[in-house]
Amino acid sequence: MTNVLIVGAASAIAEATARLFAEEGCRLFLVGRRAERLAVLCDDLKSRGAEQTASHELDMNDFEGHEAMLAAAENSIGPIDIAYIAHGTLPDQKACQDDVDLTLQEFRTNALSTIALLTRLANDFERRRTGTIAVITSVAGDRGRESNYVYGAAKAAVDSYLEGMRQRLHKSGVRVVTIKPGFVDTPMTAAFDKGLLWAKPDAVAQRIHRAITKGGDVIYVPAFWRLIMLVIRSIPRRIFKAIKL
Ligand SMILES: NC(=O)c1ccc[n+]([C@@H]2O[C@H](COP(=O)([O-])OP(=O)(O)OC[C@H]3O[C@@H](n4cnc5c(N)ncnc54)[C@H](OP(=O)(O)O)[C@@H]3O)[C@@H](O)[C@H]2O)c1
Repeated sequence: MTNVLIVGAASAIAEATARLFAEEGCRLFLVGRRAERLAVLCDDLKSRGAEQTASHELDMNDFEGHEAMLAAAENSIGPIDIAYIAHGTLPDQKACQDDVDLTLQEFRTNALSTIALLTRLANDFERRRTGTIAVITSVAGDRGRESNYVYGAAKAAVDSYLEGMRQRLHKSGVRVVTIKPGFVDTPMTAAFDKGLLWAKPDAVAQRIHRAITKGGDVIYVPAFWRLIMLVIRSIPRRIFKAIKL
């Protein structure tokens, strides 16, 4: 029986992934800001085959609440085999440029809250010498761009943290999976016009679930984003700084 902790469980991508874990009969512990929404998700996932579901209300920016949340998860479903971190916000880049507090708040949500939790999870998983830690970052972390560098910088910080953690935890048999989605049609991106490059949460979830359960260190979802970001990263800086992206 696999015990799965899902942080940011009400996210559209996390919910689609949770369904796949439910169909395998996993025990699921859902963490998020809206208790009512989590209760609905718990019922739905139970009906889809989850052995057990439970939830915990937490704003991830409440760092002091992380320890109690992890204790509640272990009390409820037992030692965590898979920790899957999905919460995030898409900052208003222009508004951030005029507001230091807003910029730092967005960095707190998208980088520091995840890093705070990872610090605890890494020690726990290392001690137990087992398990998988999977985190959703973004292709936006691969290169800072004018249109969203507050978000990109936060995701890049988490990417780098995960890269180091992966090396450290490899010795203990713990897997660390970095998940880099491109454009996904979710509430986060509701205001955007959708085109050819856009993916649906269900398709993205299939690939994430496969990487978590079968293998993969850093995955791009959909996979073609690896090539797109390779091209974007290889644009010389003297050209890059003059183009609009
Ligand atoms: N959609 C994309 O195109 C895209 C692309 C690349 C990466 N991503 C990443 O994918 C992940 C999932 O996003 P999504 O696209 O599925 O969007 P979503 O449906 O809007 O989900 C985002 C979730 O994060 C939760 N959240 C935000 N701040 C939080 C906090 N302080 N504490 C706890 N939970 C918090 C939200 O909670 P509430 O439900 O309470 O609002 C929401 O459930 C995010 O990390 C995002 O950055 C998305």
